[in-house]
Amino acid sequence: VKVEWDINAIELGKHETYMEKEIFEQPEAIRNALRGRVVIEEGMVKFGGLNMTEEEIRRISRIVITACGTSWHAALIGKYLIERFGEIPVEVDYASEFRYRNPILKEGDLVIVISQSGETADTLEALREAKRKGVRVLGLTNVVGSTIARESDGGIYLHAGPEIGVASTKAFTNQVVSLILFAIYLGRLKNMSLYEGQRLLKELSLVPEKIQQILEQQDTIKKIAEKYHEAKNFLYLGRGVNYPVALEGALKLKEISYIHAEGYPAAEMKHGPIALIDEFMPVVFIAPRDALYEKVVSNIHEVKARHGKVIAILSDKDDHVLRYVDDALYIPQTMEEFSPLLTVVPLQMMAYHIARIKGLDVDKPRNLAKSVTVE
Ligand code: G6P
Repeated sequence: VKVEWDINAIELGKHETYMEKEIFEQPEAIRNALRGRVVIEEGMVKFGGLNMTEEEIRRISRIVITACGTSWHAALIGKYLIERFGEIPVEVDYASEFRYRNPILKEGDLVIVISQSGETADTLEALREAKRKGVRVLGLTNVVGSTIARESDGGIYLHAGPEIGVASTKAFTNQVVSLILFAIYLGRLKNMSLYEGQRLLKELSLVPEKIQQILEQQDTIKKIAEKYHEAKNFLYLGRGVNYPVALEGALKLKEISYIHAEGYPAAEMKHGPIALIDEFMPVVFIAPRDALYEKVVSNIHEVKARHGKVIAILSDKDDHVLRYVDDALYIPQTMEEFSPLLTVVPLQMMAYHIARIKGLDVDKPRNLAKSVTVE
């Protein structure tokens, strides 16, 4: 059975496109993903469908996450979160690569597959390959009753609601939220203290309101889109947990505006991309105040020294770097580990407005499909 949302039943409301509507739905979508799962008094997370006992969870010795496209970017963030909070080594693989390699899977391994649609052919086959090898598979899907949801041994539903726009937005943020919850859950079954669990969950509950504040910067983002929409290439740079956000920002721009864009870990800039920088190259820096902030700032100087144009995503009230950047967008302060939930939003909006200025169909970009059910 293939379960499809009924597009005709989903109203655009005050929005002009599904993509815009879905970007603006992110605070509510995250609240829905948290609802009923967060137990603040215990600093703990509850899931309905993992189908694993706590003892089985504690015995997980390695996790392999596999996915495609935007879901693969969420997987990269998941690696960071699970290693940080859950203290379990994580590998991430493209589903299309995983299924054709000889992935070495052993007892104690858990495979996580991430798929908004739950129908992506490569991800589904990666799931089947893992099961064939006798490894337990956990599915993170948005579409209830989808093939991946049904064939997984256990699962976490994203609760993002129907996502119609081909370029994924609210499903991505809910994938990251689900991975944060799962990482905290793993941590709490091992070494994480009650206090730490509570602190993390309280901060997470503030994220929807912080996204709301970013959505209110729509006019500034439109102005930046006006300024740069004719660029032929973009570079996106970030570090740590925001390196995958650089990849996702670049993907959003490629998908809907057809501008060539690349995402890189900022420190890798000197090993190649720096050669591309001239006065025509906008470089988007994801630079919230975190442990690696100063290092990213020195990359900003390197770009400016070569006359590149810098668009920076900065933390609130951060004026230190302002005089070096051409344009800045602000995100409210949050914990470093949760920052992708905020930093990705202005990047979605910038890609969106650039594509709209160019008169493109953001909901149905050329050559792309919402759900890729062929290899
Ligand atoms: C397609 C979509 C992407 C999506 C990818 C994976 O390429 O256009 O937006 O990220 O498939 O989809 P999934 O449903 O498995 O998350």
